Amino acid sequence: MFLLNIVVINGSKRKGNTYNLIKKIEKYYLSNNKDISFNYINLGEYNISTCLGCEVCIKSDKCPFDTKDDVNKIMNQLNDSDGIILSSPVYLEQVSGLLKTFIDRTCRWFHRPELICKPILIVSTTASSGLKRTTKYLESVAVQWGAVPVGIVKRKVYNYNNAFDSKEKKVLDNFINFNIKNYNPSFYQLTMFQVQRVLANKVIKIDKEFWNEKKWMNKIYYYDRNVPYIKKIYAKLFFKMLNNRIQPVKKS
Ligand SMILES: Cc1cc2nc3c(=O)[nH]c(=O)nc-3n(C[C@H](O)[C@H](O)[C@H](O)COP(=O)(O)O)c2cc1C
Repeated sequence: MFLLNIVVINGSKRKGNTYNLIKKIEKYYLSNNKDISFNYINLGEYNISTCLGCEVCIKSDKCPFDTKDDVNKIMNQLNDSDGIILSSPVYLEQVSGLLKTFIDRTCRWFHRPELICKPILIVSTTASSGLKRTTKYLESVAVQWGAVPVGIVKRKVYNYNNAFDSKEKKVLDNFINFNIKNYNPSFYQLTMFQVQRVLANKVIKIDKEFWNEKKWMNKIYYYDRNVPYIKKIYAKLFFKMLNNRIQPVKKS
């Protein structure tokens, strides 16, 4: 697959270190004649309400803010992309509050994932600490959205301006050349898929309808052709164990 439309989520309120690092990535692709357009979503320029905690989106796909703020618009843009750059500065060892507010509002994608097998590149900058924790969290968000975290580009204050080394160039090339047909999902991805599958099977009615419609209910991953034998066994056993443990929710 050759990526054309890259949607960039800039999780910083400003166009600072994180934004500049992404600009450098864009320049790298353009200088290598890649036919790519970068469409920036600077979250600070959007109206994103804080989640009310009502769980209406989980049970019905609707949200009290549906027509009132910009979250649906952003989610649609992510859905229409060929690949996503998900970025954040490190704030107190984690992602920015701005980005977390947006991520909370995407909760229905944990139950009914829509970014299936889309490649996501994680980008983060920090003065010094917290990169590992922040990027790991962003990878887990990508997985919960049904997407594939294909790599990380990160910087600390002492190397903000460094050119990309060969390892980073490989990550950048893998991102735009990503092909799910050659992809072998991680144990974590397989585990999260089974958790979501059990929730759909036993707990949430609207999830079951969605999962049946997508024909995922009897699969071990969205695209399971390349899953090695040992991982297949693991996924099947994990699903069986969890599915047996979880009791269907009774109507009160
Ligand atoms: C509220 C706040 C919290 C921060 N927390 C950390 C931190 O925990 N560790 C760290 O090394 N740097 C921290 N920093 C520094 C930023 O991570 C760093 O400057 C980053 O590159 C800023 O990205 P930006 O220019 O894209 O906003 C913090 C900065 C701010 C404003």
